[in-house]
Amino acid sequence: MDRFGVYFHIPYCLQRCLYCDFATYEQSQILPAEDYTSLVLREMEQRKSFFTPRPLQTLYFGGGTPSLLDPDHILQMIQGLEKLGFSHGPDTEITIEINPATLNKRKMETYLKAGINRFSVGAQTFDNTQLKKVNREHSAQQTEDTLSFLKSYQVNYSFDLLFALPGQSLDGLKRDLEFVFKYDPPHVSPYCLTVPRENPLSAGRPSEDHQVEMFDVITQSLTSHGYTQYEISNFAKPGFESRHNKLYWEDQEWWGLGLSSHSYSKATPYGIRFWNPRSIHDYEKQIHQGLDLSSPLELPVSQFENLERHQAMTDYCHTSLRQLEGLSLSSAIQKFNSALALKIQNRCQKMVAKGLLEKTSYGFALTSEGIVLSNQVFLELTFLEEDLL
Ligand SMILES: C[S@@+](CC[C@H](N)C(=O)[O-])C[C@H]1O[C@@H](n2cnc3c(N)ncnc32)[C@H](O)[C@@H]1O
Ligand code: SF4
Repeated sequence: MDRFGVYFHIPYCLQRCLYCDFATYEQSQILPAEDYTSLVLREMEQRKSFFTPRPLQTLYFGGGTPSLLDPDHILQMIQGLEKLGFSHGPDTEITIEINPATLNKRKMETYLKAGINRFSVGAQTFDNTQLKKVNREHSAQQTEDTLSFLKSYQVNYSFDLLFALPGQSLDGLKRDLEFVFKYDPPHVSPYCLTVPRENPLSAGRPSEDHQVEMFDVITQSLTSHGYTQYEISNFAKPGFESRHNKLYWEDQEWWGLGLSSHSYSKATPYGIRFWNPRSIHDYEKQIHQGLDLSSPLELPVSQFENLERHQAMTDYCHTSLRQLEGLSLSSAIQKFNSALALKIQNRCQKMVAKGLLEKTSYGFALTSEGIVLSNQVFLELTFLEEDLL
């Protein structure tokens, strides 16, 4: 069955972390949140014909720091969608990203009334020295308080950890993992820090071999505590996988609203991706222009990509292999055709020979070595137009 989700980008932060490349602003450097909310509601109106109204399987407030906003703004966005016929119910997964020390009782109760049922906390590390170094605004104790607060409401929550930080040792990482086991969240996302060479945080980081060792420790300790690695950087207790992220990896449509948000529609034969500008100035300008568009194909050419066959095949291979369940050849035949699925199969076989993929009963999946070297796999499974001639 086709599924559908909506993503709202909330670009407000208390301060900018040194490693962050998301389109976000320190809150005094951007328009007031009520004005941003109005822009998002106008965007919704302007683009409502891009997607047929339907019940939502997932809704996601990401950022930025959605938990910085007055929760009534979050509520207004949910109500805006509802008015257009994008309804939600108890089965809709509604996630909000929460930064430590930004949550309180009033916010929490408004979230719960609004139907929010999943909370994703940016813990990153429980080492106060590291938190300061990367310019995080909270202490480890404040993260613990936020996690205890969420636990007291018995809600579904996840937390993000960053590893391979400058100067971080294996013992430091193991201390962070102890907090996972202390709070026992149903879902954890450990991300290896990624920064460009010119970023000050690129100095003094663990070597690549050490990063691989760190990832091994993470995988082994999380799996021994009942978590399943269902995607390269995502681990969940059974039944607690992020349904929203799965939309992205399983070729489903989604609508992204707000600054820098990306969307994917299947209105064209191989799908169309479209996106909003990254600068708040350009985003405001776009909304104020008030273009009455009926299809993403009418957007400025720099804001959409109507996928061709080879691009859709590349996306399909990359997103399905990110999931540990892997790629299904019968779905590849269904989406493309037998001849094209055979091209995918032949490239996957090459990766099997290198030990990076393994054959499953319905297709291929990453091996543990393939998880670490997934970039190599993705490179091999990148198709050019001429590859399909
Ligand atoms: C949308 S971001 C921000 C969430 C939230 N504002 C926070 O910082 O706690 C979601 C996650 O991406 C991860 N992330 C952000 N920048 C990263 C980077 N440069 N390398 C690896 N992971 C990163 C962090 O773990 C973060 O929690
Ligand atoms: S709080 Fe999150 S979104 Fe904001 S700057 Fe830091 S990492 Fe980026």
